[in-house]
Amino acid sequence: MPIPAPPHMIDLIRKKRDGGELDGREIGFLVSGAVDGSIPVEQLSAWLMAAWLRGLSREETQALTVAMRDSGEKFSPARLNKVAVDKHSTGGVGDKTSFLVAPIAAACGLAVPMISGRALGHTGGTLDKLESIPGYRTALTLSEFETVLQSCGASIVSQTPTLVPADRVLYALRDRTGTVESPGLICASILSKKLAAGLDALVLDVKTGSGAFLRKREDAEYLAALMVATAEAARTRTVALLTDMGQPLGRAAGNWIEVAEAVELLRGERPAESEDLRELSLILAGWMIHLGGAAATPEAGVPGDRSLSLGWKAGVPGDRSLSLGWKAGSIRAEAALADGSALRAFLSMVEAQGGDLTVFDDPAGFHKPGATGVLHAWEGGYIAEMDTTKIGWAVQRLGAGRERVGEPVDPHAGIHFHARRGARVEEGQPIATLYATSADRLAESIALVRQAIDISGGVPKDVPLVSRIFTRESAEAHLSSPSNS
Ligand code: URA
Repeated sequence: MPIPAPPHMIDLIRKKRDGGELDGREIGFLVSGAVDGSIPVEQLSAWLMAAWLRGLSREETQALTVAMRDSGEKFSPARLNKVAVDKHSTGGVGDKTSFLVAPIAAACGLAVPMISGRALGHTGGTLDKLESIPGYRTALTLSEFETVLQSCGASIVSQTPTLVPADRVLYALRDRTGTVESPGLICASILSKKLAAGLDALVLDVKTGSGAFLRKREDAEYLAALMVATAEAARTRTVALLTDMGQPLGRAAGNWIEVAEAVELLRGERPAESEDLRELSLILAGWMIHLGGAAATPEAGVPGDRSLSLGWKAGVPGDRSLSLGWKAGSIRAEAALADGSALRAFLSMVEAQGGDLTVFDDPAGFHKPGATGVLHAWEGGYIAEMDTTKIGWAVQRLGAGRERVGEPVDPHAGIHFHARRGARVEEGQPIATLYATSADRLAESIALVRQAIDISGGVPKDVPLVSRIFTRESAEAHLSSPSNS
């Protein structure tokens, strides 16, 4: 057999541009060239744009996921002697559930080796938020990662030049080249990190609505099914929840102010504007605990009816034990919030990763934005619609995100919302307070938020927080239906 000639990047760009499909060898070439720097960024960027425009097949997505997972060292949780679980979202505005679900699951006896990302497109980044805590280190070695997991049960870290390096390179490039919103690229980016952490089980929070990367429901459903099928093919038990991103989650969107909001909930406080964040966190943590085997069995029963089930409209058709299982998990999750064990797990993780805990003595006092502005209601009525992508860009442009790869972000930039979708507001009432690096950044973001919010005379329809669940079986059925491929 003749030895095949090595691929050339220009051919791979042209092939994708013309609608062709790359094979595993070509994808492996691309990923290793991204990591060792042998493929220049202009060629990587061109290929990403071709992939964004043409889409990736299921086989290409699987091959890209595996090649990216294998692009560096991998973590093995075996020595932790615990079931390893995690949650990852497809990106949202104000989405800080990781700061709640990771310590909750850890407090319930599971290990949460969470490899996260930075701000991407209009969405915030878990790592940028955590780095607003002075001293918090996200780039740990594998042995430091294991030490933190041994002592705290949860650790939230970044990709590094040795841990999923391919995602480190491609993620930062996608952020700056307008190539984020692609199901195949999102799937490979998320799952490469999750599979490199050696998880036993994974819960995916797939956003839908105005602030999601894939706004249309059918696109979000395809992404959810694709990710579940891809992770299951790599032998990780996975479920995906389709959740609403039609408004920012909770009342803060930014860096430090999001950490502060999460800590408020971990402390047992329940501000009304953070109730959706609390509810979604308990649902996601419930699934993690259930899949991790740390919840009471469904047969043990779920005491009473819970306010939690208010957000739960879809259920899992035909699988009563699954839906009882996550509810039992949510009850454990709620107990870990109530008894302070989740707060202790969070603080011990922050301290173990070098973070200065004194900032939590007075979170509002630590918040020192360069400039502050307030947006007032321009008329009376109900907050009907929020274009959450626009709001996300407003947050980024206040200083919470970056214009260039590698740029530092402002820990204090962000927005506090005083009114949420469905709220009645009177003319002149404050709707949002914006925090910027400098006064010159305020005007653009205030204008963006003003354009993003629609005040109308009628009460808007309620939107369920969780609208659908994908398990292995439903994901396969979805992907094999001709109308969804
Ligand atoms: N989160 C990731 O890690 N990658 C994406 O592409 C989107 C969300």
